[in-house]
Amino acid sequence: VTALRAISVAEFFSKNRHLLGFDAPQRALVTAVKEAVDNALDACEDAGILPEIAVEVRETGDDVFRVAVEDNGPGIVVDEVARIFAKLLYGSKFHQLRQSRGQQGIGISAAGLYAQLTTGKPMRIVTRTGRESDAWELLVSIDTSHDRPDVHEKKKRDWDVEHGTRVELELEGRWNEGPGSVLRYLQLTALTNPHASLRLTAPDGTSHVFERTTSVLPLSPVAIRPHPRGVELGRLIAMLKDTEQKHLAGFLHAEFSRIGRITALRVIDRAGRGLTARSYPRRVAKRQAAALHRALGHVRVQAPRSDCIAPLGEKSILASLREHVAAQHYFATCRPPAVYRGNPFAVEVGVAYGPSRDASRDLTLPDREDPVLVLRFANRVPLVFQSGACAITRAIVHTNWRGYGLAQAKGALPAGPAVILVHIASVWVPYTSESKQAIAHYPELAHEIELALRDIGRQLRARVLRDDRVLLERKRRAHIQTYLPHVSAAIGSILHQSPKEEAETLRLLRSALERPSA
Ligand SMILES: Nc1ncnc2c1ncn2[C@@H]1O[C@H](COP(=O)(O)OP(=O)(O)OP(=O)(O)O)[C@@H](O)[C@H]1O
Ligand SMILES: [Mg+2]
Repeated sequence: VTALRAISVAEFFSKNRHLLGFDAPQRALVTAVKEAVDNALDACEDAGILPEIAVEVRETGDDVFRVAVEDNGPGIVVDEVARIFAKLLYGSKFHQLRQSRGQQGIGISAAGLYAQLTTGKPMRIVTRTGRESDAWELLVSIDTSHDRPDVHEKKKRDWDVEHGTRVELELEGRWNEGPGSVLRYLQLTALTNPHASLRLTAPDGTSHVFERTTSVLPLSPVAIRPHPRGVELGRLIAMLKDTEQKHLAGFLHAEFSRIGRITALRVIDRAGRGLTARSYPRRVAKRQAAALHRALGHVRVQAPRSDCIAPLGEKSILASLREHVAAQHYFATCRPPAVYRGNPFAVEVGVAYGPSRDASRDLTLPDREDPVLVLRFANRVPLVFQSGACAITRAIVHTNWRGYGLAQAKGALPAGPAVILVHIASVWVPYTSESKQAIAHYPELAHEIELALRDIGRQLRARVLRDDRVLLERKRRAHIQTYLPHVSAAIGSILHQSPKEEAETLRLLRSALERPSA
């Protein structure tokens, strides 16, 4: 008989590292940088610090790179370092319904796990929490079979940084500079994070700097309780078990958002099955919990509050597009917050349109026959891989762009000199996998994306049509211009005009053509 054995999370992910975004060397390098930078940005914003982040990538061997990401964030308490970096599914964001870049508690430890699998080297962490505290340096790796951190070294050291964290790891990867590269990821991060200063030192020693263009931090989103519309029965049962509340009415009021005392009583009343306001939550039976769950789905409750999400806003989208994309016209639109499965979210779209000769920006528009450039973002994080699997791409393909003045083959992206930016801000982004690169197809989400695209499409059409009319008019006039000398010569010979009179006819005809048409 084959022996049965439990499998540790770390063992599982060592065999399934593609689920974490570490399937190809080029992608692995981008993912490692992304996990560290996302964390750095989250940490800085939570602490109210304007982020300053330095990324260094050095080639240390054939297809082996040493990646270092240093931030000026609040630093990490030394006792937490080993678990944060060398234990999968350990974090501060998973149990909170609040907009942040990270959510699963697996990102940076997954990068460490991949580094250790491909080069055998542990991660090096340097961190300091303030001027009064010591700076610490740790070397950690994951003990995969037991799913726990191995600390190889832990020492105090000198560090001329007041507070912050530096993460270093060595991994197998591949460097390039096209789409789906570290540089592109940072360019796009700068686009949706104008309050951050980012610096990249590439393997060849060149550096790329993205200075912040604003010193205003995004509004800090507040954490919310689950909205009753979204909860599933299993989650309700778990919440009933975990609560500190002694009475059912207090439980509903305290553990959910948007349930006041009166709504709580209504829910309990509707549930029936012997439940009362004073029932003890932990003793609610399965059958009663099911009734409570049904009642929660029926009683009217307000939509979730929207200050738990921090969208970019139209002004910021327009400013960022102007900063990073050379184009003639810029548009933006933001949808009001909506809800999927109890989670608030908001969709925003921006478009840069029309070729421009300005070559000083990071991103250039595609040619007239090529597909538009789609930029996808979730909670300000650029999504650079798995575009085909993403609800954003699908919504763009499903939109009829011919109606808005862009060419489009059936089932394809529209074509033309345009960039379409879509940002989804949510307390919980439904990614299709742990690699956090594509957004799942929730109907409510898809619907909101489509509405935003249609709105931007209408703005675009007005502009494209105007441009087309101007172009047509110009062509028409040029065409007539070429015949005018012949026309005036013919008139001259019919009317036996002198050369002077003929020249006067030509002048009159020209000025008639120049007059704007009605
Ligand atoms: N640079 C940093 N400064 C301060 N705290 C950090 C830093 N990096 C990570 N942390 C802390 O470590 C935790 C774990 O990070 P990790 O990337 O593994 O998960 P996460 O960011 O919570 O979620 P995700 O898996 O989606 O990235 C974070 O929740 C955060 O509390
Ligand atoms: Mg993270």
